Amino acid sequence: MMVKRTKIAVLSAAAAGLVMSGYAFALPEGVDTVQVTATAKDHPLDEIYSGWHFRTPETQALQQDDFENPGFLWVEQGAELWETVDGSEQKSCASCHEDAADTMATAGAQMPKWNEALGKPVNLEQQINLCRSERMGAKPWKWESSELLSMTAFVRNQSRGTPVEVQIGGPMTPWFEKGKDLYNTRVGQLDLACVNCHQGYYGQSIRADRLSQGQSNGFPTYRLKWQKIGSLHRRFKGCMDQVRAEPYKVGSDEFLALELYVNWRGQGLPVEAPAVRQ
Ligand code: HEC
Ligand code: HEC
Repeated sequence: MMVKRTKIAVLSAAAAGLVMSGYAFALPEGVDTVQVTATAKDHPLDEIYSGWHFRTPETQALQQDDFENPGFLWVEQGAELWETVDGSEQKSCASCHEDAADTMATAGAQMPKWNEALGKPVNLEQQINLCRSERMGAKPWKWESSELLSMTAFVRNQSRGTPVEVQIGGPMTPWFEKGKDLYNTRVGQLDLACVNCHQGYYGQSIRADRLSQGQSNGFPTYRLKWQKIGSLHRRFKGCMDQVRAEPYKVGSDEFLALELYVNWRGQGLPVEAPAVRQ
């Protein structure tokens, strides 16, 4: 499958961080900035900003140009895997889901979703692996493997521009509440919660970095520091390491609950994957 790439003309004002339009990919009507007003009831933030907003003009520009964005190496690999037959059923993703540009245009913006059979929510990585094991008779890919990262980047990129929207009602509610608790609980030797940095101090400098709201709409994200793409759970782990807490495992129920809650905090932001970060 061909990966469509675009280059967004960087307006000089946008590069200077003054104007946020010009950033827009093909966004749905009414969604044309990296900043939206929180509409959800009881949302702790008035304004929601994509992490893009807080990066340097150089990093912003790198993300805006699909031909320069190194994350597209993974998207390209994902496109190849999409059509690769694997497993005892001799099927590829495309055998069932056909053209990802159509079938995956919103899926990437709506995970985690409730899975009736498992009686729990599943995120994108887990859904991909469920399709592999249950539908293809293929081995699940390891978390943070180049295959799983590539497929996640590819599927999320098909949903680029679609506003994040997650279900938190019904059986999802206890998971949402658990995620909210984790977000607000101080941990580690530094005794800090996610909320302390990402709600209390966004926009401010911390070491050589500038704090964002810790939004998830750009994941998986290419990090210049990692020299590769990484999952949202890897980022969560990194943040817990920073405060010298014992991090949960990637793919754990704790991080799944946290992902649901963090996605809800960014509800309305367009998916940007693959984003570029320092
Ligand atoms: C000591 C402050 C601190 C704490 C506490 C912290 N983080 Fe972070 N976090 C950072 C810094 C610094 C970065 C990199 C700059 C940025 O995007 O804010 C970051 C980045 C992120 C990002 C990536 C944002 C993007 O746009 O790429 C996410 C998501 C995130 N944090 C989530 C969390 C979660 C969830 C927790 C709680 C488990 C947490 N953070 C706790 C400092 C912190
Ligand atoms: C044999 C058919 C089949 C194959 C092959 C298959 N899937 Fe699926 N997939 C499904 C079905 C059916 C669903 C609906 C949810 C469920 O029951 O698991 C689904 C759901 C999904 C979803 C969630 C869609 C949404 O709107 O929530 C994603 C993402 C996905 N598959 C990705 C993949 C990827 C990536 C591959 C290849 C690695 C793949 N699937 C291979 C049948 C398949």
